[in-house]
Amino acid sequence: MQELEGKHILLGVTGSISAFKAIGLASKLTQAGALVDVVATANGLRLAPAAAFEAVTHRKCYIDTFADTDDLSANHVSIGARADLALIAPCSANMLAKIAHGIADDKLSTTMLAVQCPVWVAPAMNCHMYGSASVQENLSILRRRGVGIVEPDSGNLACGYAGKGRMPEPDRLIDLCTNILARRNLLAGKRVIVTAGPTREYIDAVRYISNPSSGKMGYACARAAQLCGASVELVSGPTELPTPAGVERIDVVSAADMAQAVFERFDRADIVIMSAAVADYTPKSRCAHKMHKTGKEAQIDLVPTVDILAELGNRRRKDQFLCGFCMETENLVERAKEKRSKKKVDLIVANDLSRAGAGFGCNTNIVTLITEGDVLSLDMASKDDVARRIVDTIAQMMG
Ligand code: CTP
Repeated sequence: MQELEGKHILLGVTGSISAFKAIGLASKLTQAGALVDVVATANGLRLAPAAAFEAVTHRKCYIDTFADTDDLSANHVSIGARADLALIAPCSANMLAKIAHGIADDKLSTTMLAVQCPVWVAPAMNCHMYGSASVQENLSILRRRGVGIVEPDSGNLACGYAGKGRMPEPDRLIDLCTNILARRNLLAGKRVIVTAGPTREYIDAVRYISNPSSGKMGYACARAAQLCGASVELVSGPTELPTPAGVERIDVVSAADMAQAVFERFDRADIVIMSAAVADYTPKSRCAHKMHKTGKEAQIDLVPTVDILAELGNRRRKDQFLCGFCMETENLVERAKEKRSKKKVDLIVANDLSRAGAGFGCNTNIVTLITEGDVLSLDMASKDDVARRIVDTIAQMMG
């Protein structure tokens, strides 16, 4: 586990009955060579004492914003700034709410505002609390911001219920930390363009043709590439999503705008991930004013848009990597393979719109990764997990 050697890990511990497991986690991380800064809440310490964390980490356990200073400096900032990875395990419903809304009323929540590294949380609580609308909404906020969520395990809970809410065992969390740190430099030095969301093709001053793409898959790809050390430009059609941290976003509206933004940047890019749902047709002309109804049949003449990906396939250098997406309702693999070779791309991410849990709008996806010699079908997973697999595949293929 050389990935953990000398790495600063900020381990947040909050008031959940599974706080005792965090002692084992802190111990194993330390044994693997990590420098573990435990920052615990008052309730966390009622369930797992500071002395235990200090004994296993050989480092101070931080509790109080004002009392626990190393050298009179504001160490909630320095602990956050030096961390290579921040993991709150267990993370109570209260701490999820605080970090989702920027509340900073104790040492851990204040420190979390200062972190500059990947952040993961392992929620642990009663199954009904976990399923509550407020906890799920807070998780969505964090997920959209790029915070990694470790799904709780299901089983018997301390409160007597059986359900989802257990903190995963330390070994699984150690694997997670190792994995995240190993991926940190996977795309270091690479310039990546990601396109995301729908395009809008205006008919008149107020009406347009578009599609229901939410942009979630593309934004997840941008986040995943950024977390692997790439410099990422996200060319985005209109969406409601916040820009992932550390990513440069370029807003566009139409397919023509998107084409221009991508072509301008293509020469200096190493990788392009075209996940946008680009309109294939646009109105032949756009009326500058609002068109008024006549009560008679009407027609809109459409002309094809530029196929951005196909054009990139024609212009590409050998050292550039192209990843396209493909949505189908039938003959998924066959059509995706055709698209891959026709558009001269390295990887096609194909999804079958007819399956529940795949496609537009939802938080999960079911994809098949198609390369020249391989067809790999993945199980249903969160769009963040799918994005990580896509980025890993690209990094692997680029050697
Ligand atoms: N794409 C593009 N420019 C377009 C249309 C699509 O770059 N004008 C990209 C998409 O971002 C995606 C891939 O091409 O990566 C999708 O391929 P495409 O052949 O357009 O898919 P469909 O629209 O589903 O194609 P068809 O109607 O031919 O099945």
